[in-house]
Amino acid sequence: MAVPVVGLIGCGHIGRFHSRNLRGAIRSGVVEARYAAVCDRDRSRAEAFAAITGAELVTDDAAELLAFPGLTAVYICTETAEHPALVEAAAERGLDIFCEKPLARTLGEVERMVEAVERAGVVHQVGLVLRYSPVLTVLAELMRDPGLGPLLTAHLRDDQFFPVRGHYRSTWRGSFERAGGGTLIEHSIHDVDVFRWLFGEVTAVRCHTREATPGHAGVEDVALVTFQHEGGHQTTLSSVWHGLDDRPSTRYLEVFFEGGYFATEHDFLGPIRVQGRSGPVREMSAEEVFERYVELAGLDGRGAELARAGMLEDVAFLQCAASRRAAFPDFGTALAAHRVVDACYRSAAEAREIALV
Ligand SMILES: NC(=O)c1ccc[n+]([C@@H]2O[C@H](COP(=O)([O-])OP(=O)(O)OC[C@H]3O[C@@H](n4cnc5c(N)ncnc54)[C@H](O)[C@@H]3O)[C@@H](O)[C@H]2O)c1
Repeated sequence: MAVPVVGLIGCGHIGRFHSRNLRGAIRSGVVEARYAAVCDRDRSRAEAFAAITGAELVTDDAAELLAFPGLTAVYICTETAEHPALVEAAAERGLDIFCEKPLARTLGEVERMVEAVERAGVVHQVGLVLRYSPVLTVLAELMRDPGLGPLLTAHLRDDQFFPVRGHYRSTWRGSFERAGGGTLIEHSIHDVDVFRWLFGEVTAVRCHTREATPGHAGVEDVALVTFQHEGGHQTTLSSVWHGLDDRPSTRYLEVFFEGGYFATEHDFLGPIRVQGRSGPVREMSAEEVFERYVELAGLDGRGAELARAGMLEDVAFLQCAASRRAAFPDFGTALAAHRVVDACYRSAAEAREIALV
């Protein structure tokens, strides 16, 4: 087992989350790694991270971080437009890469990034963090019961305030040039990935978008999508960026089978409402959900603690980097979600259904 030597580029909102997780994972002893370098083009942000992490290298120049002697892995947590060049530079140096979602603003860029990591043979993972959600993992398992009959439909409403304010404190999300779009690509690429996971491959989409906030051309506040899945069923997504600054980000998912109903208002840990062909709705409590998740994921006591703290995504990346195993969700998984997102934007622009080949 090699000991990953890790650097992090982008000391903002999500960089803080991964930085905390990196330190937590290393401290827990589940994986041996060295968190050696931090970079932000705003040097004061990198310095603030280094004061906490004790990183040996603090820089405002990503190229300097990528060239840091002994570095084997990098976290790319910058705004989306910066991801492609950083991923390609890191892959050229043979570094294992964790890159935040969305991988890039356009499908063409994502395709080139996938080629770069595959050519380099590095371990790659993307921040589609809902793949580590206990509640969605348990829901996926509940949905496998053959007694449910056919899946009829599902609906997800995902809403958050236009994320340039509050804890996001970012300006780039309001810019098409820097974000590549609005609520669909920037936020609901998570949902698109979840739809592929829970309901099967998407074969066609029909999408409507709406730009309601002035001054953000190309950044939609609303995306409504109907997905056609390979199983023959259709599902719908309503993705909304609103101006309700005190409303937390929420997701509400309802799934109808011919003989079963599931609903949850949680995307990480929380109860699931379950109803069968007869009888009232029963609630599977958050604790029941978590216990089932621990079982499904085969976690020991320490693993369960890390899961509860939301650290498994980073633990998994470090473990894969240490053992040279393929990580998940990888860039290929992200590419599949980007293909669907790209088809949605084309559908909205051309006012027609778009088939995915
Ligand atoms: N997985 C998730 O749930 C999740 C949540 C939030 C954000 N994200 C994604 O993470 C990325 C970053 O989002 P954020 O909210 O942390 O943004 P942010 O603006 O809070 O932080 C980005 C940081 O990167 C720095 N930066 C930008 N370009 C750089 C460069 N070339 N070199 C060095 N530093 C650079 C900025 O100065 C800033 O400090 C985005 O792609 C976003 O979509 C993912």
